[in-house]
Amino acid sequence: MDMIERAMRSGAPQLREDPAALSLPTSDSLIERAAAIAKSPPVVIPTSVVAPKRTQRSVLLDLERIRSQGLLVPDARRSRIKEEYRHIKRPLLMNAAGKGATIVEHPNLIMVTSSRPGEGKTFTACNLALSIAAERDRTVLLVDADVIKPSIARMLGFEADQGLVDLLIDEQLELADVLVDTNVPSLTILPAGSTHHLSTELLASDNMRKLAEEVSRRYADRIIVMDSPPLLVTTEASVLASLAGQIVMVVEAGRTHQSQVQEALALLNPNQIVGFVLNKKRGILGADYYGYSYGYRYGYGRDERDRDAEE
Ligand SMILES: Nc1ncnc2c1ncn2[C@@H]1O[C@H](COP(=O)(O)OP(=O)(O)O)[C@@H](O)[C@H]1O
Ligand SMILES: [Mg+2]
Repeated sequence: MDMIERAMRSGAPQLREDPAALSLPTSDSLIERAAAIAKSPPVVIPTSVVAPKRTQRSVLLDLERIRSQGLLVPDARRSRIKEEYRHIKRPLLMNAAGKGATIVEHPNLIMVTSSRPGEGKTFTACNLALSIAAERDRTVLLVDADVIKPSIARMLGFEADQGLVDLLIDEQLELADVLVDTNVPSLTILPAGSTHHLSTELLASDNMRKLAEEVSRRYADRIIVMDSPPLLVTTEASVLASLAGQIVMVVEAGRTHQSQVQEALALLNPNQIVGFVLNKKRGILGADYYGYSYGYRYGYGRDERDRDAEE
């Protein structure tokens, strides 16, 4: 008899075939048993049996700090940014549910990218994830795949030592080992993790392809929002983009040239759904007002791309 079995048998009376065993023990027999247990050596239950094999990390996001950075906080308060992201997410969610005009593979895997650094990918990815997490019956996995300049953890104000890179290089790790749960219901984060000299190559690896497949198929009811490196900076970004069903191309208003957007678009699979967020658009509320507008590449021909890729 192993230790676990012995521990179980020394507990409450077990149902046996003998009907007498079903009767409650008398107080005498309880005292005798307690004395016997007291004399026997303590039962040690191996932790590997009791504790779950994997534990998820969990962080408490400071929602007021997040709000003060101009990011969206999923609560009952109304705000302009929530309204804007309602428009941005609506077509993405329709496509993810297979109700859009185009059917793609992995429609729930949404990659946020841009042509150049600093256009607002991380800002957009965080807002999109927070906005979708506010939807009823939606769960979101926010992945920091910009392993060149990881910044999701910093933007949301937590520290993460392990993440995507570790998962891709260490066969012993499982997805659940590196996921970070948050106090925003329905929002889980996969941080970028360790720095690695081959981190960009890892994005184009077979392991990355398998991971994308796994998160998209295994969690088909979940939306995966993936922050990523700029398309024109590293060739691996376009390989990564090929794994996503939908692309959100962030374009910085007034700074990114149309030719750069076209160059970036040319690196994408023509069958992918591509939406545009024109970010940091200055509006009527003053010079510091940052807003968004959202456009879609509806067709796949060069002409439509030219028409839709606003500068
Ligand atoms: N719409 C916006 N309103 C206010 N700040 C923004 C907006 N978009 C981006 N930023 C800020 O601009 C900087 C660059 O954005 P970031 O998302 O980090 O760019 P990327 O990830 O493309 O390199 C960050 O400090 C971010 O907070
Ligand atoms: Mg970024």
